[in-house]
Amino acid sequence: MQPEGKLEEIGAFKTLEQFIIERQFTVESSTGAFSRLLRDISVAAKLVNWHMRRAGIVDVFGSTGEINVQGEVQAVMDALAHKEFVRALRRGGECCLIGSEEHSEAIPMRTADDNEGKYIVLLDPLDGSSNIEVNVSVGTIFSIYQLPEGVKEVTLDAALQPGILQVGAGYVVYGSSTILVYTTGDGVNGFTLDPSIGEFLLTHPDIRTPEDGNMYSVNEGNYESFDIGLKKHIKWMQQERADDGRPLSTRYIGSFVADFHRNLLKGGLYMYPATHKSPEGKLRLMYEANPLAYIVEQAGGLASTGSQRILEVKPTKLHQRIAVYIGSRKMVETAEAFLRGERDLDP
Ligand code: AHG
Ligand code: MN
Ligand code: MN
Repeated sequence: MQPEGKLEEIGAFKTLEQFIIERQFTVESSTGAFSRLLRDISVAAKLVNWHMRRAGIVDVFGSTGEINVQGEVQAVMDALAHKEFVRALRRGGECCLIGSEEHSEAIPMRTADDNEGKYIVLLDPLDGSSNIEVNVSVGTIFSIYQLPEGVKEVTLDAALQPGILQVGAGYVVYGSSTILVYTTGDGVNGFTLDPSIGEFLLTHPDIRTPEDGNMYSVNEGNYESFDIGLKKHIKWMQQERADDGRPLSTRYIGSFVADFHRNLLKGGLYMYPATHKSPEGKLRLMYEANPLAYIVEQAGGLASTGSQRILEVKPTKLHQRIAVYIGSRKMVETAEAFLRGERDLDP
């Protein structure tokens, strides 16, 4: 946080727009297209925020009656958030392809003659949507790639790039305040929406995640599904020791983006392993795991499938699922060691 920052002194804060433009001028060949893309995303985020803040007053709770491509019930807000992002990106013209959790196929954007967009945006328009009706934080997650050189016809293949090739990634949490956090590979910065002026203001410059933490996040209801290494790891975190901070605390919201945000700032480990119900893991590689993996690495943390760096996984499909262990560096390393069978409970 900026130390002397008081929200009344709005002028003391840099806006997201100013920040993006300043960064743009540090890249010599910049055309401004990427800056405009980020602006389009931030506009969509403000619109989703607006819907969210009125939820409960207007009738946007509940489900659309549709089952999405994931086989999950689509909430009205899922559909609304999807629509706002697609609309903002279409209007902006910098995006040539969208992949969304709420749409089975990739959505081509070069349908209008004037669209020369060269960025691919993959997104989870609303993460944690089962939490909306009960006023728990939800969010949006996005991942940005460049259209590979020489590609004329933009199809899904262009989007199936490993996370390491992302040129930008971010998320928005619609929580007790609304915050947008993003990286373009040059550190991680967070911007809080000031509703009185409708601007995102730089409140969390250069976020670094603690290298260790005392919170872990996992749906322990799936415990019976976990492999033996993970079961031991969880028991190890629960052991009482006077000298190293154990037992750790469990914190699990059930909105990946909100759990991730807390752990990023405070230090922690989020895990969604493969389970009997979701044998490949539950979270989606392209628009949940990869963007947050990019952010956590940029902040000094790690993201792993349990045995491999998430950012190096070669994707095969848009809605691919993957096991996720993400957060503070030491905690992810410990999880991997338990999964490899190299660690055991303390005597
Ligand atoms: P989404 O709402 O976009 O479908 O994502 C839900 C995800 C994620 O946000 C959360 O961490 C996880 O599902 C919770 O799953 P469980 O209820 O199985 O713990
Ligand atoms: Mn999600
Ligand atoms: Mn979602």
